[in-house]
Amino acid sequence: MERILIVGPASQILGIRIAKELNIKYYNTESKNFPDGENYLRINIDNESLIEEKEVIIVQSTGPNSRGNQNARLFELLMMIDAIKRMGAKKIVVVIPYLAYARQDHIFRPGESKFANLLLCLIDSMRIDEIYVVDVHAPKIFEDVQCKWINIDSMKLLADYIKSLNVKDVVVVAPDKGAIERSKAFAKHFGENIPVEYFEKRRDVKTGEITMSGKLSLKNKDVIISDDIIATGGTMAEAIRLSKESGANRVFAVATHALLLQNAKFRIIDAGADDIIGTDSIDNEVSKVSLAKAIVDYLK
Ligand code: R5P
Repeated sequence: MERILIVGPASQILGIRIAKELNIKYYNTESKNFPDGENYLRINIDNESLIEEKEVIIVQSTGPNSRGNQNARLFELLMMIDAIKRMGAKKIVVVIPYLAYARQDHIFRPGESKFANLLLCLIDSMRIDEIYVVDVHAPKIFEDVQCKWINIDSMKLLADYIKSLNVKDVVVVAPDKGAIERSKAFAKHFGENIPVEYFEKRRDVKTGEITMSGKLSLKNKDVIISDDIIATGGTMAEAIRLSKESGANRVFAVATHALLLQNAKFRIIDAGADDIIGTDSIDNEVSKVSLAKAIVDYLK
C-alpha cells in the first residue's frame, strides 16, 4: 500500500523530516480562524483521489500555538483525520509528538475530569489505526484506547546530543521523585553507574505553586536535569537553583517537550542553566534534537 504523509500546521519541520526519512510524498495544510474564532483546515491537495486507498500518516503536535491555544491544534488534528477518512484512506496513522492535556491524567481535586483519557478515546473513536506519541507524561492514559498505540522514547537522541557537548562527571537529576524512573533510564545512555539524584517537589493543587528542597553532592559535576515537559519553567528553575547551591559546575535543562510558556526561558537561564535542550515535538529555538529518527524507526 502506498504511504503518504500529511504535515500538520504544528509540526511543519518534523513532518517533512519524517517524510524525507521515509522517502514518501508529503502534503501540507491550509489553516485559519473564521471571524467568530472557529478553526478551518483543509489538506492542501487539488485531487482527493491522492488519498484514496493510501496509508496516510498525519503528523501534528498539540502544543500551544502562537496565541497559546492547544485546543486549536487538537481541532486541526481532528479535522485532518476527518478529511482523510472522508477521502477514502485505507489506513490512518496519527503521530502526536506532544500530546496536550496529558498531565490531566488523574483526579487531583473532587469534581475534575480525567480529560487526558477522554481525549485519547475521542481520537480513537474516529476509527484510526495507530497512534504514536513521544514520552507521554503518563502512559496509563492509554488504558481505554482500542487501536494500536506506541509511546516512543526520545532519551537516546537527547543523550547523544548532550554527549556531543563534552559533558564530564555527569549526574542526572530528576526534578521530583516521580521523574526518577525516567531519569534512571536516561542516565543509562551516558554509561553504567551514572548517579541519579532527585529533589523533593511539592505542588499546591489549588494554586499550582511549587516548592522544592534538597541538597545533593554535586560539587564540580556536570548536571543534567531531565523532565518530560517544561511548561512555565518553574520546576526546572528551582531544580537548577538547588543544583547550583549544591555545587554543580555546568547545568543543562533537558526536556522532550519544551513548551517554554510565559517567561520560562528567563527563569531557567537566570537560575543558572548553561543551556536548554528540547526536541522538535515543539518547534522553537531550543528544538535542538529531532525526533524524526526515533519516530521513523517505529513507522518502518
Ligand atoms: C510534572 O509532573 C511535569 O513532569 C513537569 O515537571 C511540569 O509539567 C513542568 O511544569 P512547569 O515548567 O510549569 O513547572
